[in-house]
Amino acid sequence: FDNQPLKGRRVVVTAGGTKEPIDPVRFLTNRSSGKMGYALAEAALAAGADVTLIAATKRDCSAAIHLVLAPSAKEMLKAVEEAMLDADAFIGAAAVSDFALEKPFDKKVKKTSSDSHLTLDLVQNPDILKTVGTQKKPGQVVIGFAAETNDLLQNAERKLKSKQADMIVANDVLAPSAGFDKDTNQVTLIQANQVPIEIGPKSKTAIAEDIIQQLVTILDGQ
Ligand code: PMT
Repeated sequence: FDNQPLKGRRVVVTAGGTKEPIDPVRFLTNRSSGKMGYALAEAALAAGADVTLIAATKRDCSAAIHLVLAPSAKEMLKAVEEAMLDADAFIGAAAVSDFALEKPFDKKVKKTSSDSHLTLDLVQNPDILKTVGTQKKPGQVVIGFAAETNDLLQNAERKLKSKQADMIVANDVLAPSAGFDKDTNQVTLIQANQVPIEIGPKSKTAIAEDIIQQLVTILDGQ
């Protein structure tokens, strides 16, 4: 970005797969590496923004990014709500677990000789994107992702409305050059009353630059 289009703007990005504790040594997680979210944070920084990256997965990043580690969905929600108090934009690239144990075991779960089954009772986690979308202040822009394995555009459009987002990055996670842990991605940008924009396949760095460019367009249009 030549002219620092996000100078003076605060951008909050989430990244990585959340870790939901089972007991002191185990957790439930998913395949997200954090690469997409970290690439977005770097692209926002390159565009001149003040960037807070709230990550469930630790990776290397520029020292100028405010990195907050938040392993579980509940920890991530708390950090996001605090960061959004004075932010201009939110980009939710994290793969947040939809479910967690209501009360993790406080000691390591042991095998028993009498029962070969273990049942974990899961309850729904808070929806971070939906919370940010429904609580957004005038001028704040909210961008979410939709990781889908089928009916990509329909599901993404449903998420655009239900989470009150300004844009959804629809990600077919089964496409060969796209999705979890890859260095490349292929996405479609969905906005209300606009023709979908297809991007890629190309590097997550290049995809992130296009998403940040679209964020600049939305912020400038307000
Ligand atoms: O991290 P990488 O390995 O680079 O992989 C990138 C990615 C595939 C994880 C990324 O591109 C992506 O698609 N992220 C969204 C993953 C996801 O959880 O999608 P979803 O369709 O389940 O959720 C929709 C949106 O709601 C997402 O913005 C998600 O962050 C958000 N969400 C979901 C559940 C929840 N409890 N809280 C949320 O905020």
